[in-house]
Amino acid sequence: KNGLQVAIDGPASAGKSTVAKLVAKQFGYIYCDTGAMYRAITLKAIRAGISLDNDSEISKIAKTTSITFAPDQGGQKVFIDGQEITEAIRQEDVTNSVSAVAAIGEVRQELSAQQQSIAKDGGIVMDGRDIGTAVLPKAEVKIFLIASVAERAQRRYKENIQKGINTPLDELQLEIEARDYKDSHRKISPLTKAKDAVEIDTTSLSIQQVVSEIAKVINQKL
Ligand code: C5P
Repeated sequence: KNGLQVAIDGPASAGKSTVAKLVAKQFGYIYCDTGAMYRAITLKAIRAGISLDNDSEISKIAKTTSITFAPDQGGQKVFIDGQEITEAIRQEDVTNSVSAVAAIGEVRQELSAQQQSIAKDGGIVMDGRDIGTAVLPKAEVKIFLIASVAERAQRRYKENIQKGINTPLDELQLEIEARDYKDSHRKISPLTKAKDAVEIDTTSLSIQQVVSEIAKVINQKL
């Protein structure tokens, strides 16, 4: 193994991907955004006009789609079957449909297997909802990031404004709460804190403070 497995889970817009990327950079680890994988399958289903309750067709998509990542100045690009979808998977239609797709057992089975294969040699920071509990239950480092829903809505709002999206703050807050509810109440690997995870409340912390908290936890295990 060339490095640890670092699992970062938590509710929507808690800052997981922002800090996960920075932690990965600091330790020279790979970063894997598992939410992007669920979003990619959701986008493909929407584009194909498949109804989101058609479990068998969506599972078929999950099993036959190639999802790949390429590094891109601090971030990464996402592709399905070689086509770039980095921006498309962040649109509101995907965001509001992804929890339904992520509740399908066969979709989870397929994507979890791909995630385990990506993480098998260690040296990886993987963020999502079930990484510490289901995908990498033996990860050496498990972090559970939380923040107040008001703060998370505020962060999404600022991100959206930069992208030219103008959804009102209260609507964003309702969307975040609805998605967290669905992700925490689904039957298969719901969002929950692993027993051995370190919880960090990021509500009043800066990005740098969160990154150094996580780095501390990693350094204790190295
Ligand atoms: O992290 P992000 O907000 O991009 O994740 C999008 C959605 O993908 C989540 O709301 C959840 O429904 C699903 N997801 C999941 N398991 C993961 C990562 C994401 O179910 N490990």
